[in-house]
Parts: sequence; structure tokens; C-alpha cells
Amino acid sequence: MTDVTATPPTRQRPWLDATLPVEERIDLLMAEMTLAEKVGQTHQVANINPDDDAGEIASGRISSSLYASGATAGNERDEGVLVGNIDAAQRHAVKGSRLGIPLLFGRDVIHGHRTVAPIPLGIAASFDPDVAEEIGEIAAREAAVDGVAWTFTPMVDISEEPRWGRVAESLGETPVLSGRLAAGLIRGFQGDDPSDPDRLAACAKHFAGYGLAAGGRDYDTVSVGENTLRNLHLRPFRSAVDAGVLSVMAAFNDVDGIPMHAHEHLVREVLKGEWGFDGVVVADWNGIGQIVFQGVAADKREAAALAIRAGVDLDMVSGAYLEHLEELVESGEVDLALVDDAVRRVLRLKFRLGLFERPYAARPGASNAPTPSTRAVALRAAQAAHVLVKNDGVLPLDDDAGKVLLSGPFVDDGDALLGTWVLDGRGEEVVTPEAALRERLGDRVTVADGRFPDVTLMQARAADTSVLLLGEHRSRSGEAQSVVDIGLPPGQLELVRAVAAFGKPLVAVVYTGRPLDLTEVLDLADAVLVVWHPGVEAGTALADILLGDAEPHGRLPMTFPLSTRHIPTSTHQRPTGRLIRADVDHQEGRYVDALTYPRLPFGFGLSYTTVDYGAPVLSSATMTTDGSTTLTVTVTNTGERPCREVVQLYFRDPVAQVTRPLVELTDWALVDLEPGQARVVTFDVQAEQTAYAGRDLTTRVDEGEIVLLTGPDAARLQPVSVTITSPKASSACTGRPEG
Ligand code: BGC
Repeated sequence: MTDVTATPPTRQRPWLDATLPVEERIDLLMAEMTLAEKVGQTHQVANINPDDDAGEIASGRISSSLYASGATAGNERDEGVLVGNIDAAQRHAVKGSRLGIPLLFGRDVIHGHRTVAPIPLGIAASFDPDVAEEIGEIAAREAAVDGVAWTFTPMVDISEEPRWGRVAESLGETPVLSGRLAAGLIRGFQGDDPSDPDRLAACAKHFAGYGLAAGGRDYDTVSVGENTLRNLHLRPFRSAVDAGVLSVMAAFNDVDGIPMHAHEHLVREVLKGEWGFDGVVVADWNGIGQIVFQGVAADKREAAALAIRAGVDLDMVSGAYLEHLEELVESGEVDLALVDDAVRRVLRLKFRLGLFERPYAARPGASNAPTPSTRAVALRAAQAAHVLVKNDGVLPLDDDAGKVLLSGPFVDDGDALLGTWVLDGRGEEVVTPEAALRERLGDRVTVADGRFPDVTLMQARAADTSVLLLGEHRSRSGEAQSVVDIGLPPGQLELVRAVAAFGKPLVAVVYTGRPLDLTEVLDLADAVLVVWHPGVEAGTALADILLGDAEPHGRLPMTFPLSTRHIPTSTHQRPTGRLIRADVDHQEGRYVDALTYPRLPFGFGLSYTTVDYGAPVLSSATMTTDGSTTLTVTVTNTGERPCREVVQLYFRDPVAQVTRPLVELTDWALVDLEPGQARVVTFDVQAEQTAYAGRDLTTRVDEGEIVLLTGPDAARLQPVSVTITSPKASSACTGRPEG
């Protein structure tokens, strides 16, 4: 009897020779594929079942499966998904199909797998790409144990609309912050070599403009011009591509009438053509089918033709490609070259991930439960997500705080502290605020879960200090969780007012997936911490910060408006024909019944000390369009505790071809300062950082004045001007010969 397993695989399947370059392996494999098998590689199903789907897998009609319970999986628990099915399904593909092409398994591993870290908006508050990288790395290692090879993160949609529930999953409102943190996450998930069994492919999503959904209503239409797209919304995607992200997901929305799943210009021409992205463009959940609902295709057949032309390579669950692509090619309506391009990209991803060499789950049966070392990463991230936005001196709590009341719905609800998009984390693995504070304060702490506000009030009266845990349940943010009102949920403000009336120290801790209207809380409480949804180490991080065992150093990655009625308020304000400033005299044409400055500006956050900023100083007040200058600023810790200061650098381009933001974050530095210590912070400023898309949409760096601004947040900045000159003029004036 012939032992088939003993046959040298590369004789029959030369693409299995891992010493060959990937592109050659793709050529060899594609040369063997029928059109039907090619189309199979463009089809992704949900929750593959090795028994029910065995025939389809063996016939090469399935390329990939995601494991998620539905279109809004981020808000639903996922008990129905049996990740253990992965290896069984994979065996059908590898051993049972004609060409043995492995399946690719994806799952939304967004901010941790079992060890859940803060929601992405909380990660963004760290302003620390290393924190993002560490989270990506442990999440990848834990998910790989379950056979997951691909995650659908980071979400880099520019998020300036707090009513939109998905801001929780975003990395904030500015392109440079979002882009750098996305690059950190991508490095963490993919590593240097994504074929490492402990790494996953990442996916930048949702391309593009999703953050502009009208009125913050999820999935709504988007009206935006290409200039704004290029100068703002496309930039973090470009950063993700430059960081080597292996896939990009198309967005549900249209852009100026064209559904993104049918947007040939932005997907095929810009992303794939202009930027040279050679990875996979995956549809969002039923995104191709939804072109029909968007009224731009009569049926799924037409939708399939539009999507493949646009450059969507892999169809997430709609079935449109599987059902219609073969026939569309045979009838000549779709060029085979388009299908080939899509298939090449999918196979490239599978080769890059090493799936042909290692198709099965890494370390099967290994535990992926949180360990002390993964918890240490989650704790650092959770601490870094704490943004102190007010402190009249009540924090950190010391012995004078006396008896402390800890109250509110989050005191012992681990699950609520995990945040949106948690499919594998477990509420019982969360260190709750109650557990952490009881351990540290013993009898000094009393706890009220808030079920009876009257009882809470009596306890607050008896306590010396109240710590109120306020905010939104995790299910009020995330996909399809938009709100018309960014106020606190009903009842919470009443409790704050009633407790504040006792006149005793009051600390408000706000758990949230979005900027909230905190105007009254900021007036009434003595200290306010915004902590997002912090994950498995929520309680430990809170206790560390409240008691001063860690210094708060998070900064707001989104602007907090004065109220819902003041939306939009963000750093993206561009100059109008009338001057706009925060004061009454410079608000012409705005509202007659209110001012429009932010309640809490982008980048804002306090520490337990005070930091003084010197004026910014340039090494040279000119730089060439291809050159740079050095900006230094001295920061001094003038208080009595150490801190980590986020020293921020913004710029303004006063005269450009198009209107440019009043201020735009371009760089920052995390600076540790001991009490009394002064440090000189140096920024290497490249003229290229001022580049923007001009009237003809090409990228340009203008000659002329640029204002550089440094400070602790977007509203407290000191300017210095630099003049950008042409390289020619500068070499002429230094007397160097022109080349
Ligand atoms: C979301 C994506 C997600 C996908 C798969 C969609 O509803 O928009 O962000 O990756 O589902 O779960």
C-alpha cells in the first residue's frame, strides 16, 4: 500500500516549497487552480462548522471563516462560537481538498483576547505606542492558541463625533496619534514575521470615512470631499499600510454617494495603486450584499461585479462572489485579471502567515488565561488610560480621606468594566474596584452598589470621602450603539448633586466608551478621573491611582464638548472667513446663545504635580522643504510628586492652498520628571510633517511660515515661527554649488 503522507509534498505541490519566494509560490499554485477554486478563495463564511461544511471545504469553495456571532458581535457575548472547531475544519481543507489550500481563521480580537486591556480609546489615552504594541503582542499569543490567525483591528477611523458608539473602538480624533498607535498595535500583532506561530495578521479598518457617519448614527451616509479625506481621514490608513498591515477592511458607508465596497477610486486606485498596498482588502460583514440595500446595485450579482472591480478581495459572508463571480467572468462582464488579483492577495496573506507550513492552532490545549505577566501589561495599560481631568487636591487619597465610600454600578461588575468588543474575556477574571480597594483600605472602605440611591446617600453622609463610579455600561458604546445625548445615563447626575451637597470630598470616576458631557460633574466633584473601560486590571489600576501608588498620566484622545448641543467640537476646526477664538468677541456667526470652546480640550490631562513649560526654541528659524529644524522646550516639575508629562507639539499653516486646521498635533514626547527636575525636550521637526494635499490633491510642502506650538494640550500652547524655504534658495545663500 502506498503511504500518501510519505510522498514528498513538493513534487505534487511545488508551492509547498517554503524556500521559494512567496510570489513564485503563488504563481505555481494559481497555475493549478480552476476558476471555481479561485472564486472559492474570495469567499469567507462565519463560524465554519467542520461537520456541516465539510463538503464545501473539500471542494475548495471556502477560503476563510471568521468567528463572530453576528454583525454587531462587539456587543454580544459569543458563547455560540466553538473556536475548537478550527483544527477539524482545517483538516478538511488541508487533507481533503484537491489543492490543500489552508483556511484562514479570523476573529475580532480588538483589545485583548483573554487578558482584556482598555478599550482602544483608552489605549489611545496612553499616547504610548509601546503600550499598544505590548497589548497586541499578548492578544496575538493568546488568540493563536485558539487557532485564530487574523484579527480585525486596529480601527483607525478618525473619531471626533462622540454620539457615534464606535469611537470606543477608535484611536481618537487625530491622524498622527491614531496612526502611531495603530502602528504599535500592528507591530504587536504581526511582529517582524507574521508567520511566527504566536502572531496574527492585523487589519486596518474601516476604509474610509466611517467616522463621518451623519449625526453619529452608525452606518449612515458620509458627505466629504477628497481633500478632507486625504488631509485627515486617509492618513492613519496610510500609516497602517506603511507599518506593514496585512489587510484593510472596507467601510459600510458610502462616500459622497459611492458605497465604499464599490469605491474603485479610493480602494483600487488610491489604496492599492497610489499607496502600493499588496495585502487583502476584506469586505465588512455582508458589506457587498449591502450595496443592494444602499440602492446602488439591483441584486447581489451586480453588487459582486461592483465590489470586485472596486478591489474588494474577500467577501465577508454575503456569498455574492461565490454565487456570481464565476458566471460574471465567463460572461465577460468581469475581467479574470480582477479575480486573479484578489486571489493572489488572499494566497499571499496565507503564505505570509505560514499557514501552508503550519495550518493548525498554535500550542493546542495550552492555557491562554491571564497570567501575572499578561496582567502586568494590562495593568500598565489601564493605569496609562486614567485621565485626571480635575483635582482640587483631594487626590491622591491619604489618611485624611478617612472613611471612604465606594459606590456605583461598576463597584463589583467585572463584565461591565471590560468594554465593547470583548468576545473571549471573562467578567470573573476582572479585578473589580471593590476587590482592589477592600484589599488596600480594609475597614476604611464601605461599598454601595447603587441599587438603592437612597441607601447610597445615607452611606455617603456617614463617610468622610465619596468615590462615585459613574458612566456608561459597556454595551452603550461600540458598534450600532449611538446616542442622541452624551450626558450621563439617567439618575447618575442626581446622585452626584445629592452627594456633593454634603460638602465632603467627592471623587467622580467615569467609565465610558465616548466623551461625555461632564460639565456639571466637573463643577460639583473635587476630583474627576476619566478611565474608559479599563479591562481585567480595572480595580488594581484605580486603586493605584486613587491612593497615589501610580501617577495619572493619560491624556484625552478626543475633545470633550461642552454638551451634546455643542457637537461638533474637535481639534479639526479650520479657519473661517471670520476669526474664531474661545472668547465672546471672536465667535461671530457661531451661536448667539452659547460659546463653542471645548469643555476639555484634546490632549488634556493632569498629574499629581504641576509642570511648567518654557517657551519653544528653534535651532534654526528656517528649514528647507526637504529639511528639518530642531525645537526644544524646557519642562520643569514644579510640584512634589513625580510625573510622566505628555509634551505635545502642534503646528498651524497660516497660508496654504486649502484651509488647514487651526492646530494639528504632529508629535509628542513622554517625559518622566522627578519633583523639581527640569528636562529639555527635543523635537526633530521635518518640513515634511507639514505636508498636505493641495488643490490638485497631490501632496505638497509649501514654502512660507509655519507656526509650531508646544504645550500640555491643544488649548494651552506657546508658538514659535519657522520659515520653510526652497532647497535651491538655501543652497544658493550658503554658497554651495547647485547640483
Ligand atoms: C464590524 C467590523 C467587524 C466585523 C466582523 C462588522 O459588523 O463593522 O468591524 O470586524 O463585523 O465581526
